[in-house]
Amino acid sequence: MTSFSYAANPVRVVFGSLDTLGAEAGRLGLGRVLLIGSPRHGDRAAAALGSRLAARFEDAAMHTPVDVTERALKVAAEHDVDGVVAIGGGSATGLAKAIALHTGLPQLIVPTTYAGSELTSVLGQTADGRKTTQRAAKVRPEAVLYDVELTLTLPVSVSAASGLNALAHAVEATYAPDATPMTDLFAAEAKRVIMSALPRVAANPSDVDARTDLLRGAWLAGTCLDAATMGLHHQLCHHLGGKFGLPHAETHAVLLPYVMAHQGLDDAAEVFDLAASLPIPHSLAELGLTEADIEGEPDLLRQALHGTRPATRPSLKALTKQVVDSFAGAPDRVRVLLSELVETLHGYAIRTDLTQAEWEYAIGFLTRAGHITTETRQEFILLSDTLGLSSVVDVLTNSRTPDTTPSAVLGPFYVDGPPETPQGTDLAAGLPGTPLPVDIRVVDTDDEPVAAAVVDVWQSNEDGFYDVQLPEVDGPVLRARFRTDADGRLRFRTIVPSAYPIPADGPVGQMLDVVGRHPYRAPHVHFMIAKPGYRTLITQLFVAGGEYLDSDTVFGVKDGLIVDFTGGLDFTFRISGSSA
Ligand code: BEZ
Ligand code: FE
Repeated sequence: MTSFSYAANPVRVVFGSLDTLGAEAGRLGLGRVLLIGSPRHGDRAAAALGSRLAARFEDAAMHTPVDVTERALKVAAEHDVDGVVAIGGGSATGLAKAIALHTGLPQLIVPTTYAGSELTSVLGQTADGRKTTQRAAKVRPEAVLYDVELTLTLPVSVSAASGLNALAHAVEATYAPDATPMTDLFAAEAKRVIMSALPRVAANPSDVDARTDLLRGAWLAGTCLDAATMGLHHQLCHHLGGKFGLPHAETHAVLLPYVMAHQGLDDAAEVFDLAASLPIPHSLAELGLTEADIEGEPDLLRQALHGTRPATRPSLKALTKQVVDSFAGAPDRVRVLLSELVETLHGYAIRTDLTQAEWEYAIGFLTRAGHITTETRQEFILLSDTLGLSSVVDVLTNSRTPDTTPSAVLGPFYVDGPPETPQGTDLAAGLPGTPLPVDIRVVDTDDEPVAAAVVDVWQSNEDGFYDVQLPEVDGPVLRARFRTDADGRLRFRTIVPSAYPIPADGPVGQMLDVVGRHPYRAPHVHFMIAKPGYRTLITQLFVAGGEYLDSDTVFGVKDGLIVDFTGGLDFTFRISGSSA
């Protein structure tokens, strides 16, 4: 078991309108609010707060200087406020958090960028030009209100840098030492939405859907930032930012693809191409650094200095997309089936980190399956059956007609066109076994008899073999084609089937052996019931109390098909019209 711990932090997150700010403040019990934010958004926020507004502070500054915080604290004290509302970017949020650190006052944050700081318990402050960072639970805001309208006018360059900064939080969470299944989920979704939204925002900054996606991504990424330890990327940004006074979001945006390539992350090339397409600085040189500045720094910073493409392995996403695109001209259904197949197979190789040797083994396995397959031995059906895939397809087909008899897999031993046989025949003539009189009826979904339905029946002998498996047997044995009479009835005689192993001398048998599975099928008789105008029913009846009902090797047993065979087999099959 992999141990981990995850704390869901009690932040109320609202995606809605700034007009609800007063109500949200009320929810937190705030009656005298200090509002932080420049007039640009502050005036609307003040109006929304109405009589809850006690004072305003407009001078929040980058990196949360302590002297600014002291001034704001004074205003808060003078007006005896009971909470802080901040609207704006990292500076406004930072100041609210600093006030909370000193006073414990509750905070409600309305972010207008994508930084994610509103979700964290981290506070960075500067004093005498030195930045220090600390974590404290009381610094984490109580509530966050995201209003996409506020972001529509954020310039594309700021949006892009801020969005990539958010992306960096998600990326770092994916390789954090304290990543959990929850941060993995948040990070994956954050990456997905941010990467899809950024180009759309760049193309049309007032695209509300794209802006909403970006804001949602920023929220999820901010959650990662709080819940997982940030690594190499943040250390480098912090280090360079502090040493050279670089702008925060832009530094993140420049470095992210280089750090990702350095970490061997698959989407490094994709992030590089994304950043390259956005109107932001693409190199440390554009941020003012020189060769001399990065003397003695890690190699990846040299590439970042010049903005050259980092050495990455080719993007597998791009490869998958290329293959999927190659099906564009195929007929609809073919395109869907092939595209999904390719995406699933590529995803399988990627998720399992499939090696060349493993894939060669798989090809060899399939080749052996092909070689062993003949007219009477179908290894691919066995493979599909033992992997449960045949039953999946069967359930998908049958679940569309819930009021009919359940279906079951066809299996490899059906022979098309068995001999027409009169009712009453004994299929087992001369064979050893427990005699079994069979009396079945075929009805429709109104319980009306279905006359003249063609009923193909096949089963194994007492030793568990089908005729086609026995070289010494010539001609059909224990298989026949009957027709129902005017009452939908069919009577014949046979023997009770026994459990049997599926053919296990080929690759499928080896697979079962390796995983420690037995090759047995629970005892059953096969039926295929057909009549023009009706859906053909392919199914099996299982002997109640028989062996392997719980571990049938092809996962074919369904409750509604387990029948008492004692003294005879008596069963009503219900089939439906083909339009049902
Ligand atoms: C059968 O029931 O005949 C069968 C079904 C799947 C695999 C092998 C045999
Ligand atoms: Fe069978």
